[in-house]
Amino acid sequence: MRIALSTGGGDAPGLNAVIRAAVLSARTRGWDVLGIKRGYAGLLGEDEVVPLTAESVRGIAGTGGTILRTTNRGSPFAYPMQQPDGTWIEVDRSDELVENARNLGIEAIISIGGDGSLKIASQLAAKGMRIVSVPKTIDNDVPGTVTTFGFDTAVNTALEAIDKLHTTAESHDRVMVLEVMGRDAGFIALHAGVAGTADVILIPEIAWEIEKVCEKIMARDAAGHRFSIVVVAEGSKPRGGHESIIGASLPGQDRRLGGIADRLGYDIQQRTGKETRSMVLGHLQRGGPPTGYDRLLATRFGAAAVQAIADKRWGHMVALQSPHLVCIPIEEVLRETKQVDPEHDVVQAARMIGISFGD
Ligand code: F6P
Repeated sequence: MRIALSTGGGDAPGLNAVIRAAVLSARTRGWDVLGIKRGYAGLLGEDEVVPLTAESVRGIAGTGGTILRTTNRGSPFAYPMQQPDGTWIEVDRSDELVENARNLGIEAIISIGGDGSLKIASQLAAKGMRIVSVPKTIDNDVPGTVTTFGFDTAVNTALEAIDKLHTTAESHDRVMVLEVMGRDAGFIALHAGVAGTADVILIPEIAWEIEKVCEKIMARDAAGHRFSIVVVAEGSKPRGGHESIIGASLPGQDRRLGGIADRLGYDIQQRTGKETRSMVLGHLQRGGPPTGYDRLLATRFGAAAVQAIADKRWGHMVALQSPHLVCIPIEEVLRETKQVDPEHDVVQAARMIGISFGD
């Protein structure tokens, strides 16, 4: 048996632990393992395909990033190609990919990635490719799995930032606005905000009003708490307003979000007269060593993906449905979306202890 691994989309702490577990589990069965570099670029002659052995994955479980590298603009069905005049077009190179995989003797692929990679996996499966997926996203927005590796690490990074902002906010009687990742789902903002005892949490799932945000800050002020911490997910927006899109995306990429904290910080200072500072945590949330929880989950996912291949669960994704690891059809995952449920007990608990969602 010869299998290949690919990591696609934005990186997440724990990817290397998945790779390590998949390689070691496959080698235990006596299978050959190849690593496709930079998404599927390695299989399209745009990068390399390398052998992966126990030696290649030694010591990587605790490291951030991905030894295979990654890209979020490499769908083989819409591969960006620059024209001589500098413009970009998208080309379907999926047949070439399938043929190259066959020529290399690849019998099955483990695709590790988020919604974009899952869509590519289902398209490749439709072409007869034998593929199983491992869900990946720091945003925790892949349906069908309770959580994904990388999320816990991102929450802890955001939590550390909130803790540090608390002391400086309190010293200066300031409002601090922290922007965290979360395009369509506010899990990072919610979990880090509640754990970090933020005063206001703004997420894409709950439309907020600036008046309500300022009311909370001024109520704290009146009670003698002259500082406030606001945590805002990058994809959140005021009621009737729009999300904050920063700069241009490269061809083949999704919209780039950012800047909501600055807008919000400006409005808070204008309305309350309170000195306000904002910061964007950005890609710090994607880097660094995975937490113990993420290393363990990533290891379970990597081993489960190899088991899924042994069981011929083609077109399936491994998932955590606590306390069990299961395999679910990728098609099912793609039919759904996953966001914070505003009725969830974490939101309820936050409200009960006085945290405002600006609504
Ligand atoms: O999907 C994960 C994510 O971290 C989003 O929260 C964020 O908007 C995006 O990746 C940023 O991706 P990049 O800057 O790498 O394109």
